Amino acid sequence: RSLEAVDESVPAPNRTQDRRLPVADDVQTQFDNVPDTDPHLPGNREWGKSIIGRVGSSTLGDQLVADHMVTSVEAVESVLEGAVGAQADWARKTGAERAAVLRAAAVEVERRRAEWLEVGASECGKTLDQGDPEVSEAIDFLNYYASLAEQLDTVDGARQVPVRLTLVTPPWNFPLAIPTGGVAAALAAGSAVVIKPAPQARRCGSVLVETLWAAGVPKEILRLVHVPENEVGRALIASPLVDRLILTGAFDTAELFRSFRSDLPLLAETSGKNSLVVTPDADLDLAVKDLVYSAFGHAGQKCSAASLGILVGSVATSRRFRDQLVDAVTSLRVGYPTDPTVQVGPVIEPASGKLLKALTTLAPGESWLVKPRQLDDTGRLWSPGVKTGVKRGSEFHLTEYFGPVLGLISAGSLDEALEIQNEVDYGLTAGIHSLDRAEIEQWLDAVEAGNVYVNRGITGAIVRRQPFGGWKKSAVGAGTKAGGPNYLVGLSDWVPAPATE
Ligand code: SER
Repeated sequence: RSLEAVDESVPAPNRTQDRRLPVADDVQTQFDNVPDTDPHLPGNREWGKSIIGRVGSSTLGDQLVADHMVTSVEAVESVLEGAVGAQADWARKTGAERAAVLRAAAVEVERRRAEWLEVGASECGKTLDQGDPEVSEAIDFLNYYASLAEQLDTVDGARQVPVRLTLVTPPWNFPLAIPTGGVAAALAAGSAVVIKPAPQARRCGSVLVETLWAAGVPKEILRLVHVPENEVGRALIASPLVDRLILTGAFDTAELFRSFRSDLPLLAETSGKNSLVVTPDADLDLAVKDLVYSAFGHAGQKCSAASLGILVGSVATSRRFRDQLVDAVTSLRVGYPTDPTVQVGPVIEPASGKLLKALTTLAPGESWLVKPRQLDDTGRLWSPGVKTGVKRGSEFHLTEYFGPVLGLISAGSLDEALEIQNEVDYGLTAGIHSLDRAEIEQWLDAVEAGNVYVNRGITGAIVRRQPFGGWKKSAVGAGTKAGGPNYLVGLSDWVPAPATE
């Protein structure tokens, strides 16, 4: 097939669930993504090693965790009231003034890139190759939402009135980029923000907030709380002072939060069960590479991770594909991020429950192509596993695992592959590898996922280029996409703009 048919920029149809007003034409936005650190340059390698040398002994953020631990319901209310009280001053600034503060914050994050990598590796097991793009994404969020803030004040005849208080409750798997995104969006819109980092990522949350404060974000407007997961945490989520809650986490967490407060206004990106389809018309070498990176990057602990490879027709029986996949998976370096060459780090907690079951058992018809092994006594370090013969409708087909295990499932045709993809309850990311334009178009028309990728891995959405958010049970609430043109709109109320001359 002619290489001319390979077009990584095949545009996805507009799959946002955005139902609100669009902001001004995003194409006009002055914004550039920042580059990651190139690990191949000798100077950068030394820089990486010096960071790695501090991993494990790092105490970054410790003091702020202690200072901002809130252990009573009254103290939670007082933090929220303080933020609401200070918001009017922040909202009175123009979008351009708020944007300037966010741009300064982006500069400060870049200046502290090494610190951020250190705390992400120490606390959450992020390997350098995963942590570095995460820091870039955080910087992108700050700059991108700054550029949107400049356009926000009036949109299509409506005037923007920011919500007073946004609560940001991020996950531990992107403990720096995702909370930076939520915080930056809310600040850009003119809202006050309270952030509650995930309990597994408290130091990351503290370092983030300290960085933004140092860059000039007022402490009254951006508040940090660490709360225990008991009635104090519940009081935070349930407080009527919260106008919007930005949540990234499991679908069940969104449901739990809604059980605390039924009218909770959520912007939530929730779980996924994502797959990558490989057709006989694919560049199989590239498909193997992208499948392996999407499945095992950050030990499979991304909501975007590939949990299933759907092999169409002859790919399922291709010896070459199978051997390359085994080779690629077994040559991944597994370990702790104290080693700069590690590609698959530890899982956040000892594998248990459904993940442990997926790593250690097979359902009828399944067999191990690569059997995962527990590599030490912590229960956190596993070599990646690949199971084949996964049956349509089985537990593995339909369940999210969040760990280093990939299932392979065969499909007789692209139609069947699409049915397998769309049968899951979630719809976050999905991919296809094919060099056939008709196949790609058929797939793009039918696949039910928020982020769809052609001839590329299915993780690592880039701010503005690939706004990130799901369909079905992968999104709860407003459904606007992070890093996209409408995200700030969901953090505002809209009133008719005064008539112009
Ligand atoms: N945005 C991340 C990705 O695309 C997941 O949160 O991989």
